[in-house]
Amino acid sequence: MNELNMPNHIGIIMDGNGRWATKRGLPRSAGHKAGAENLKKLCRHINKLGLNYLSLYAFSTENFKREVSEVNYLMNLFIEMFTNDFKFLIEDNVKVLFSGRREGLPKNVVKAIEKMEFDSKGNTGTVLNICLNYGSQDEIVDMVKKISNEVKESKISIEDINKELVNRNMYYELPPVDFVIRTSGEMRISNFMLWQSSYAEYYFSETLFPDFNENEFDKAIEEFNKRNRRFGGN
Ligand code: FPP
Repeated sequence: MNELNMPNHIGIIMDGNGRWATKRGLPRSAGHKAGAENLKKLCRHINKLGLNYLSLYAFSTENFKREVSEVNYLMNLFIEMFTNDFKFLIEDNVKVLFSGRREGLPKNVVKAIEKMEFDSKGNTGTVLNICLNYGSQDEIVDMVKKISNEVKESKISIEDINKELVNRNMYYELPPVDFVIRTSGEMRISNFMLWQSSYAEYYFSETLFPDFNENEFDKAIEEFNKRNRRFGGN
């Protein structure tokens, strides 16, 4: 891996947990649990590789349309992961951020994510941006409202609005996403970081997320290294 270029910012759409479980005759919840276990290993690996920014699509605004039992299972899993299993990230110098709307999330989930953000806020290693109750179009709507308010309150004028200002007013100011990985063979973006991924390279893997291990990740990085990024030039 050493001779390969690491992208600065990777996004992962973690898909296929449900199918992983169904294939084994297990409830969908078992797939989410297996996905979470895999994520722990992947985070360790990615942190060792020294990636600067990792964004994960954990739960979209639209995921609230799922069966109540599945949504409840996922919310409890997030609480469990962020209060216990993922604590190692804080010791590993990872700075954890959560993008998405806090309203609409159960109070104890908000408590867990805010604690994780607080406990890791001085960390200087990989920035891990977890998208939870997240929708990219909602993020853009929320950014427009924030900027409109600043204009209304005469803090800025319309002429001040540019790409940098827009980026500063997203949930977090993050650098562009260079590489988006989606697992499970689906070839969709599903409302994930549309603004930040404008010039990203995309990688679609057939592997279901619980099986998308360190090896699969390294294969994706090898593929990224073969891409010729032109950013609209030639
Ligand atoms: C998509 O698979 C996955 C999710 C909606 C949840 C992602 C959650 C995890 C990987 C668990 C742990 C995450 C964190 C951040 C602790 P799907 O259910 O849509 O699968 P399917 O398309 O096969 O039904």
